[in-house]
Amino acid sequence: MQEKDVLILAVESSCDETAAAVVKNGREVLSNVISSQIDLHTLYGGVVPELASRKHIEKINQVISQALSDASVTLDQITAVGVTYGPGLVGALLVGVAEAKAIAFARNLPLVGVHHIEGHICANFIEHKDLEPPFLCLVVSGGHTHLVMMKDYGEFEIIGRTRDDAAGEAFDKVARAIGLGYPGGPKIDRVAKEGDPHAIVFPQAHIEGSPYDFSFSGLKSAVLNYLNHAQMTGQEIKPADLAASFQNAVVEALVSRVMMAAKEYKVDRLVMAGGVASNSSLRENMRNACEERGYQMYCPSPALCTDNAAMIGAAAYYEYRKGVRAGWDLNAVPNLKLGER
Ligand code: KG4
Ligand code: ZN
Repeated sequence: MQEKDVLILAVESSCDETAAAVVKNGREVLSNVISSQIDLHTLYGGVVPELASRKHIEKINQVISQALSDASVTLDQITAVGVTYGPGLVGALLVGVAEAKAIAFARNLPLVGVHHIEGHICANFIEHKDLEPPFLCLVVSGGHTHLVMMKDYGEFEIIGRTRDDAAGEAFDKVARAIGLGYPGGPKIDRVAKEGDPHAIVFPQAHIEGSPYDFSFSGLKSAVLNYLNHAQMTGQEIKPADLAASFQNAVVEALVSRVMMAAKEYKVDRLVMAGGVASNSSLRENMRNACEERGYQMYCPSPALCTDNAAMIGAAAYYEYRKGVRAGWDLNAVPNLKLGER
């Protein structure tokens, strides 16, 4: 370890993963520990906010100790503490924020508040050492669907967003309707491999005057209507075809807008981030579209697409380098906007 190395202890608890990591100089992950609550929330078919908070408080100390020991470092070697302070479930965020503040206060360490989506985007810096802004990024998670220009470290311009459901939310709701259960995205991804993506043609939403905005609630309703109609008329439902056709409609909506924006904004470096970026069909289609046009495509490996603390450590490092510091009054901001402090 060099003396000038910056070691960030990062904490993430915005939804249903309690996570901590130690990241060196923004790009090298020394440890990345995740305690998933999926089994707990599966019983209820989705994330139950109060249960998530309670589980975070139970696990957080254990997860942080593990992250430090996996990295073979002690708190004495940590340069700063980074923590997700929004957006997310308020009770869940508060656990991580309170914990990070307590550690920073006790050790007199700088505290850096991180935007969860900035974290998702920065996950790309971990595996793609040559990647630097500016680039165009498609952020697709359970709570967000944004098309973002990352102009510089910590500088973002949102050029498109969903008007209703996030892409991941649509995956989760459709999976529930087909009876695949929670979390829906990975299950649809798996089942769709056995189906025909052109078996059912679902409508594509286009928003007048906002070519880069998305809308997935109409698609979700179309799937539900298809299911109701098939049940009422006694038509056979093939879950694999339904999953593949729905997934194809989402992927087409995402890829077409990214390609349109890349042309308009004259960028040739395209980045994906967020849980849905681990979708195999989205990755394949985006890669093909990029290859056809000679664009470079970057995407984290699936484990770094979904929620983790290593990505928060990467984002915290670049904010730290810019001199961003949180005060002892740092609070959770459930609807924090990207680019705002
Ligand atoms: O980024 P993430 O872990 O948490 C949020 O910040 O929301 O994203 C979770 C979302 C869920 O909606 C999940 O169903 C979706 O990402 N997801 C997927 C896949 N893996 C996770 N969606 C489609 N295909 C996947 N393979
Ligand atoms: Zn996330």
